[in-house]
Amino acid sequence: MTVLITGGAGYIGSHCCVAFLQAGYDIVVVDNLSNSNRMSLERIEAITGQKIKCEIADIRNQDNLERILKAHNCEAVVHFAGLKAVGESTQIPLAYYENNVVGTHTLLSAMANSGVKQMIFSSSATVYGEPQFLPLTEDHPTSAVNPYGRTKLMIEEMLRDVAASDPQWRFGILRYFNPVGAHHSGQIGENPLGIPNNLMPFITQVADGRREQLAVFGNDYETRDGTGVRDYIHVTDLVEGHLRAHEVLASGSARSNCFAVNLGTGNGYSVLEMVKAFERASNKEIRFSFAPRRDGDVAECYANTELAEELLDWKAERDLDAMCRDTWNWVCKNPRGYEAPST
Ligand code: NAD
Ligand code: UD1
Repeated sequence: MTVLITGGAGYIGSHCCVAFLQAGYDIVVVDNLSNSNRMSLERIEAITGQKIKCEIADIRNQDNLERILKAHNCEAVVHFAGLKAVGESTQIPLAYYENNVVGTHTLLSAMANSGVKQMIFSSSATVYGEPQFLPLTEDHPTSAVNPYGRTKLMIEEMLRDVAASDPQWRFGILRYFNPVGAHHSGQIGENPLGIPNNLMPFITQVADGRREQLAVFGNDYETRDGTGVRDYIHVTDLVEGHLRAHEVLASGSARSNCFAVNLGTGNGYSVLEMVKAFERASNKEIRFSFAPRRDGDVAECYANTELAEELLDWKAERDLDAMCRDTWNWVCKNPRGYEAPST
């Protein structure tokens, strides 16, 4: 079976390509390289020993997508392509609605015209907004506090409407908690451009000397040490969840033709616990100072994982030490990301 992977050159997409290739699927990557590097595709080939089919293309070009879907006989799609920076989404919201919402609409239209009716979609725990209870179950009310989050919610609604219109469509909406880590080979990993917004990439840049210190956003939350608590999940576990979701959808064994499921570990770690864990893994001191809370941040956010276990027969296995160790291995082997050869 050939699976189209949009955004397959990006952080999570590249790990997903490895998982699907190693599971025996043929894949075709569609990526416009707006936030990624061609080198990641070469690294996927190096890890798997398989040639990758890649189309440098934009998901907003419907004719081209139809050509690709038909030319490669694709039977399913895993859809990662999109813009993902929360702060940026408040500055250029139209670009986010265009790329994420219009892009997904265009992709769905191309799929409909090509008879491809199965999609896994990258959603986010951000759709839960301020938690009303923890751990977060999939039936927790949804709300979004920024344009990025709203694009995820709108797409989820669009997928539910399409699923309701025709039972042949099959959608797996996967709500990621906080993906971190890298492939254990150190060949692919997260490669943020500019100043990282997220915690783990920022910590790595303090560890390798690119940044002087981490600003810990808030130490007065009602958490065990006052800093924000999140559910960090190893990217390898995350993509294994995609593989399971794909298998469940393809087998037709899902209870409904559109499900939303959390992909997290169920464990929450504070910012200070992350700092300590990274110091253990890297043997480096992570200097930090406390700064005011970041707008839009919640105190605590972690997943209830029961539905994922039940529906997908999947559970995250890698612990925090593995997440930090694999991240540090990737950074040490690629001090300038994909710009220089892996050592
Ligand atoms: P990423 O930026 O590394 O990957 C996205 C890829 O999509 C990039 O390679 C980019 O070049 C490509 N792309 C963007 N717009 C495109 C377009 N119009 N046409 C073709 N390709 C396009 O991001 P990621 O961290 O791998 O995230 C993948 C998906 O998961 C995104 O949809 C993101 O919103 C979602 N997500 C990510 C996180 C996270 O923490 N990384 C958390 C929750 C959800
Ligand atoms: C952020 C996004 C969220 C997205 C998620 C995964 C915001 C407001 N939310 O969530 O929509 O789904 O990433 O990509 O951007 N922290 C620091 N210092 C830093 C960076 C982060 O203290 O320099 C803290 C944060 O306050 C938070 C924790 O570290 O408590 C994790 O932050 P981050 O990695 O940005 O993820 P989220 O805030 O969970």
